[in-house]
Amino acid sequence: NKEEQLAVIKGQIKSYPDFPKKGVLFRDVFSVLQNPPIFQLLTDVLIETAKAIQPSVEVIAAVDSRGFLFGPLISLALKIPFVPIRKKGKLPGEVMSHSYTKEYGEDTLQVQVGSISKNSRVLVVDDLIATGGSLKGAVELIKKIGAKPVACLIVIELEDLKGREGVTCDVISLLKY
Ligand code: PRP
Ligand code: ADE
Repeated sequence: NKEEQLAVIKGQIKSYPDFPKKGVLFRDVFSVLQNPPIFQLLTDVLIETAKAIQPSVEVIAAVDSRGFLFGPLISLALKIPFVPIRKKGKLPGEVMSHSYTKEYGEDTLQVQVGSISKNSRVLVVDDLIATGGSLKGAVELIKKIGAKPVACLIVIELEDLKGREGVTCDVISLLKY
């Protein structure tokens, strides 16, 4: 069942104290990708979860860079477009920007104007929510370009940091710490 599958995935995630800064316990999602059957299991659960979201989503957007591990796989399975939300200076053409604070620093995210059709229903994907700064930034950007964030789908949630409280759409997370 799903609880058992999630426990198997959680068992594969390695944790590193004091990385990249003292006081941060780093949860490394890449350790899942080193085990193909467990990576497949995680991919299947993400796809199944994304398919069940109501109202149905029309676009997948993911956050640079670890969101890119999962966003495109989900978009292919659902046969809908994938759009990147990137760190500043990486996307060509006209972009919108949003600066924010995250668990271990500050950053700016950008999205290409016109990359998502107006009013389309968007699912935002990332590997992890800590303070929620990155996810909130991504959701605000999607609104700025006239699309509708329906939900966020996240692999790992650090619940103590209460990141979901600042995000203005539904946050679905698979593994809680
Ligand atoms: C990490 C992670 C999330 C964000 C979560 O990305 O992948 O995007 O931090 O932290 P927050 O909830 O406090 O904002 P990071 O900016 O380190 O970039 P990376 O994906 O390129 O490693
Ligand atoms: N991004 C922000 N906080 C993180 C953490 N504790 N582990 C992995 N990625 C993160």
